[in-house]
Amino acid sequence: MSEVNFKKRVFSGIQPSGNLTLGNYLGAVKRFVEMQNTGIETIYCVVDLHAITVWQDPAALKNQTRELAAAYIACGLDPKKSILFNQSQVSAHAELGWILSCVTRLGWMNRMTQFKDKAGKNAEKMSLGLYAYPALMAADILAYQATHVPVGEDQKQHVELTRDIAAKFNHDFKSEVFPLPEPIIEGTATRIMSLRDGSKKMSKSDPSDKSRINMTDNADTIASKIRKAKTDPDSLPSEIEGLSSRPEARNLVNIYAALSDTSITAVLQEFGGQQFGTFKPILAELAVNHLAPISNEMARLMADPTEIDRILGDGAQRANIIASPVLEKVKNAIGIVAR
Ligand code: TYM
Repeated sequence: MSEVNFKKRVFSGIQPSGNLTLGNYLGAVKRFVEMQNTGIETIYCVVDLHAITVWQDPAALKNQTRELAAAYIACGLDPKKSILFNQSQVSAHAELGWILSCVTRLGWMNRMTQFKDKAGKNAEKMSLGLYAYPALMAADILAYQATHVPVGEDQKQHVELTRDIAAKFNHDFKSEVFPLPEPIIEGTATRIMSLRDGSKKMSKSDPSDKSRINMTDNADTIASKIRKAKTDPDSLPSEIEGLSSRPEARNLVNIYAALSDTSITAVLQEFGGQQFGTFKPILAELAVNHLAPISNEMARLMADPTEIDRILGDGAQRANIIASPVLEKVKNAIGIVAR
């Protein structure tokens, strides 16, 4: 463990690779905003260099980048309190990403389950970037010497890899440049599941739009997706144990708990014994009431893309002020002649 006391600093990011889902919102953005409001220094990023690890339509990527920035702000992220920017505007990410690729071992990368899930049987046809992406993610975090990384369950392995990379760098170069960042995976919404299959994560890349709630869905669509969500014929249990072999029921209860900032136990106390026919409309109403103001605000912000670009540019400048000296320290530690 490092002897250095690093300042507490939060970093996290989301890919602008399509529609932001309820999973991204509950598992990430909502928690980012909560952390921002505790007074800790918070840095949040639109990770566009990650998105291009799979092909993105260039015009769509620009729109998705702005839309994600708008979503962050509409969910309560204050670009004055937090630093909000898109990754590619701060070149330290790409530079440090390369340096950390030279520290990362192939054996470590081969254990990354997300690459295996995304590549499936087509690994040979995937980009080198998709395979190498966890080293870039490590650079995102370590360029700011971030100590805390709020993420959903699916990113835990990548944050743990970041710790391994940081420790190996510090050891190999007898330096104490990097902290060992902690993944922060808390609350009832760290893994929101597909509405069609309780064993699969809700994901923006799922071919079925009915599997997810998008932050831009209108009230009717949200209500219809929840009404049609897969469930079983039993009523809701009164105790948490009763959800253990019922992934779809558990998922809807988790979503209710996360949206209403309460516990699963409290939700079951209220709805135990009730049928899904009763529970689903109440959940749909809760979701619509929660999400409608966000999607309205997103639409309002998207009407002024110049202002969004200004916010991202300002955030990038502030991010660069933190990342540049860290990169200089890294270069110095590894023996690169710098200005
Ligand atoms: P991404 O863009 O896939 O997802 C963004 C965040 O949303 C969380 N998430 C979920 N949480 C709960 N339930 C779900 N169904 C769900 N789906 C997604 C993710 O866990 C994540 O926190 N590699 C990252 C982005 C990244 C990053 C970083 C994160 C790049 N650099 C540095 C933290 C720090 C990714 O692809 O997330």
